[in-house]
Amino acid sequence: AVVIHRKMKKSGKWVKAMEIVKEFEESCRTPISKLKQVADAMTVEMHAGLASEGGSKLKMLITYVDSLPTGNEKGLFYALDLGGTNFRVLRVLLGGKDGGILKQQFKEVSIPPNKMTGSSAELFDYIAAELAKFVAQEEDDFKPTSGRLRELGFTFSFPVMQTSIASGTLLRWTKGFSIDETVGQDVVAELTKALERQGLEMRVSALVNDTVGTLAGGKYANNDVVVSVILGTGSNAAYVERAQAIPKWHGLLPKSGEMVINMEWGNFRSSHLPLTEYDQALDAESLNPGEQIYEKVISGMYLGEIFRRVLCRMAEEAFFGDVVPPKLKEPFILGTPVMSAMHHDTSPDLKVVANNLKDILEISNTSLKMRKVIVQFCDIVATRGARLSAAGLLGILKKMGRDTIKEGEKQKTVIAMDGGLYEHYEEYRNSLENCLKELLGEEVCKTIKIEHSNDGSGIGAALLAASHSQYLEDES
Ligand code: GLC
Repeated sequence: AVVIHRKMKKSGKWVKAMEIVKEFEESCRTPISKLKQVADAMTVEMHAGLASEGGSKLKMLITYVDSLPTGNEKGLFYALDLGGTNFRVLRVLLGGKDGGILKQQFKEVSIPPNKMTGSSAELFDYIAAELAKFVAQEEDDFKPTSGRLRELGFTFSFPVMQTSIASGTLLRWTKGFSIDETVGQDVVAELTKALERQGLEMRVSALVNDTVGTLAGGKYANNDVVVSVILGTGSNAAYVERAQAIPKWHGLLPKSGEMVINMEWGNFRSSHLPLTEYDQALDAESLNPGEQIYEKVISGMYLGEIFRRVLCRMAEEAFFGDVVPPKLKEPFILGTPVMSAMHHDTSPDLKVVANNLKDILEISNTSLKMRKVIVQFCDIVATRGARLSAAGLLGILKKMGRDTIKEGEKQKTVIAMDGGLYEHYEEYRNSLENCLKELLGEEVCKTIKIEHSNDGSGIGAALLAASHSQYLEDES
């Protein structure tokens, strides 16, 4: 009788488990019809955000970048790239017309988590000190022309209301940063003050979002680049808009007739987004509830955390023994890289899954059947994210009129993409690319290309610093 009882208990558990899987799968479904609705909603919000300040959840920020690199940029420039768990400092020597990038060096430093939520001065002092160290290591053939100040492109990957190409106030933090006193401040002034405290004299010539840096870096490498997308810790996109299509822009019409727009698409939301109880709980418990909803379903900071929440639910149904494993209750303990490793496990007995469960969550003795379910969860979460980001991209292409082929036109559209999620999560990348094909159809797809712009945002910022250099007049 005892044996029978256990068996019944066990099979009852599996019935429940399968119910949870099915329910989750159902609530994450992204059929093409739904994705098209998401894309249309994105296009509508783009129009609204361009029409008036505050007209949409999409900020559609004016970047003051009205021309992208031409290849004529010349000289030594620095860049500082802040926006995720790491920041980078780099210097490049630009060769001018046909010269390209003659030399570049960079250093990557991780940001101690306490600096992301401490004081403004602490954060900026920390990055300024790292930059000062890097500058001190300048080699002889890598120095600015004598008598000239070093110039810097500052990639600051948060929503900023720019007041010029080299100034702007922080609207709010995203991606786990949270320092109240910085909000509303000019981040270039904050950085400049910190550089002064380090005794480092440097001029910030351009303040750019990482999407804008990636667009500039991408354009330098391929002239057909007109859109950029970051899929990393956070997610966002930028693109080249006609200045006349920006009703809220009251400045002079730029010579190029164009203006780069930083969409801040992470803050997009729509009733068409398939959101689950897990997403709702994640959002409610986040540092920025109600904000960055699209980002919270598609980007690297959150995929692993959604996955953890689903596993927790399974644990509550005694999937991993009688009590919920304590480690599984720790928010953000499962990073997206770990989830990706489990998702890509090709060993017949799913060893990678087993090892990660043991090492990170202290869960052992899982059956192969359970591990298969776990991989299925990874797949559901990643596929939904990838397909929704493809839908967002379709929204942009629609706004630009590049989702169809016009008679007699041989227009090429290149999308510069970057970010750890895109770069390292193969299933995500493939699913995004396949979905975009499905959405656009084969013919249109031939005119559209996604190019990986490897760390283009730093180089792009240096290029924009060059084209906005204070010494530009001397060159001609
Ligand atoms: C977040 C930031 C945005 C940035 C993106 C990618 O969404 O708000 O500015 O571009 O992450 O790093």
